[in-house]
Amino acid sequence: MKIAVLGYGGVAQAFCKYIDERDEEFEIKYILRRPGKATEPRMIEDINQILTDNEIMIVVDLLGGLDASYQYMRQALAARKHVVTANKAALCYGFEELTTLADKGRLQLRYEATCGGTVPIVAELISLSRCNEIDSVFGILNGTTNFILYKMFKERAEFSDMLKEAQRLGYAEADPTSDIGGFDVSNKISILSASAYRGYITKQFPVYGMDKITKRLMDGFAVTGKTIKYMGVSKRCGNRYALGVVPVVVNAGSIEANVPLNYNMGIIHGDNCGDIKLYGQGAGGRPTADAVVRDCHTVKETINVVPDYIFTNDLVYDPDLLTGTGYVGQEAIHGSLEHLVAIAKDREVALAFEIDGYIN
Ligand SMILES: NC(=O)c1ccc[n+]([C@@H]2O[C@H](COP(=O)([O-])OP(=O)(O)OC[C@H]3O[C@@H](n4cnc5c(N)ncnc54)[C@H](OP(=O)(O)O)[C@@H]3O)[C@@H](O)[C@H]2O)c1
Repeated sequence: MKIAVLGYGGVAQAFCKYIDERDEEFEIKYILRRPGKATEPRMIEDINQILTDNEIMIVVDLLGGLDASYQYMRQALAARKHVVTANKAALCYGFEELTTLADKGRLQLRYEATCGGTVPIVAELISLSRCNEIDSVFGILNGTTNFILYKMFKERAEFSDMLKEAQRLGYAEADPTSDIGGFDVSNKISILSASAYRGYITKQFPVYGMDKITKRLMDGFAVTGKTIKYMGVSKRCGNRYALGVVPVVVNAGSIEANVPLNYNMGIIHGDNCGDIKLYGQGAGGRPTADAVVRDCHTVKETINVVPDYIFTNDLVYDPDLLTGTGYVGQEAIHGSLEHLVAIAKDREVALAFEIDGYIN
């Protein structure tokens, strides 16, 4: 099957190397690059060459940024190409439009690599949602912030030192705002919630950064046998849902607390399956490319099957579904996550959230 790759960064290079050397089921016919950057004959500059080529069955979007990725995915679906993407920002931004286009065209839109790197959370959610009412999805979904908190937990390190260390190791961007401010995780938990509940997440939800977490705060929780992980959290009851991004208090002996370094974990609860915890490398060229390869195989295997993951507009946001105790500065306050985030933002202090009913 002939495919086209958009971009040639870390993930795309790992993906192309794997397909070229180890996977005979796919042939990369084009690699889209910016003008003047082509270094081999397959590299092209004009997306229209891909869109108008009837041999191309899958467009594999491995671009950074938002706008070009979003526009190219739209154009690819409109040109009747299946799409596989790793770009969470672009997918989240255009989720309703892109899934609707795919649905109307009976095309596949696959996005395993957008959430949790190689960890097969999306495929599992789509599969589980066929035979479960999934009532919660939590996740350690960002390698940079997990690296920082894990080191603070295990080595009693300072936040600023560990942020510098994460940057030195190449886990964190020079500008880490998207990671430590929660924007990266907010895209991921939004995509995962939509996939789990099969509905569009249309309401703004509370997102609280982890940059105010200090060694002193971590040490205080350690004395009580607890620690903090930075998580996307999401609950659903019938057609009501709530979600957010927040530092979460967990037991120090739990699996969550011990997810190391830049690893990720997805925690799913369904009414039939109970708890499922999926763990693996949340980032990096090869692990992420692996998820992209799996999506390509899924598209190929199900190419003549109408995709059965249809999303609705029936979900209603209800912040009271997500309640717990918020450690807001020196105070412990019980309430909804939305309420607690509003207080913490107002006071400009750290927030750590102990979720009602979350057993780890
Ligand atoms: N790296 C990971 O661990 C990881 C994990 C999960 C998901 N992802 C997602 O996967 C995607 C790729 O990540 P990456 O780490 O490979 O990023 P990267 O190394 O920054 O590569 C991004 C690529 O996109 C290209 N690009 C951006 N806009 C373009 C445009 N308009 N036309 C042509 N090329 C364009 C860049 O070209 P130039 O080099 O010319 O700028 C570069 O080749 C991102 O959306 C990222 O969020 C990455």
